[in-house]
Amino acid sequence: MQNVPLPFAACADVTFVGAGPGAARHLTLGAYQALQDADVVVHDRLVGAEVLALIPARVRRIDVGKEGFGPSTAQGTIHTVIVTEARAGHRVVRLKGGDVGIFGRLDEEIEALEAAGLPFAILPGLTSATVAAAALGQSLTKRGRNKSLRIVTGHDMEGFAEQDWRGLAQKGEVAAIYMGKKSARYVQGRLMMHGADPATEVSVVENVSRPDQRIFEGPLSSLPDIVAQAHGPAVILFGLAPRRAVQALPFVKEARA
Ligand SMILES: C[S@@+](CC[C@H](N)C(=O)[O-])C[C@H]1O[C@@H](n2cnc3c(N)ncnc32)[C@H](O)[C@@H]1O
Repeated sequence: MQNVPLPFAACADVTFVGAGPGAARHLTLGAYQALQDADVVVHDRLVGAEVLALIPARVRRIDVGKEGFGPSTAQGTIHTVIVTEARAGHRVVRLKGGDVGIFGRLDEEIEALEAAGLPFAILPGLTSATVAAAALGQSLTKRGRNKSLRIVTGHDMEGFAEQDWRGLAQKGEVAAIYMGKKSARYVQGRLMMHGADPATEVSVVENVSRPDQRIFEGPLSSLPDIVAQAHGPAVILFGLAPRRAVQALPFVKEARA
């Protein structure tokens, strides 16, 4: 692979790198190079195996996604790890699944570095919704259909997340719903309460960009049943169905009431 210079990264102690949703082909060239140049990679659970395999053997890896089968590493511990490694003079790559700036707690980690007076750089990655839409053969915005795209979460620190349900319920709206598996029934109820057509197409893409990627589709009225079929990480694309050519593929499952 060609060596692409990253002039700004040379002065950063920590580089936040988006790994994309899974496959090596969804990693940017800049991200690839940052992995080659790192002394230590601090990575999340959602980073794909293909991407982890690109980290050179000499580079130390710290998995902050899960401790065995236990709970995720506390955010404060992650701050301590990246600050300590950077202060020790190591080139740190903080590798996160998808894009670092989408539901990735990036700002909290940046603030920890700022408090420690450490410089950082950001290399964004492909977010799971972008790759999921591509898997459907669809675009996320379309002339005459939707002038905006909403990126929302199904739950936040307070529980199920409140959104502009009335706006989202309008015909033609498209939303990428992250972390929406547990809140599927709540999201469905809120949208229908605000007048969304129960027949609105919804797709759920599980394990985006991985060998076990699956697409489930059906109407909003079946959203909880559609989502229940996905066991791995999944992104819900409200307002989008797979194109006809995609629907014929074996990994596309239909769920209609
Ligand atoms: C904490 S958020 C991280 C999002 C990530 N930064 C991104 O840009 O895709 C985790 C949620 O992202 C979505 N997600 C991340 N990776 C995914 C994948 N490979 N396949 C499907 N959904 C994924 C799921 O909705 C998951 O619950």
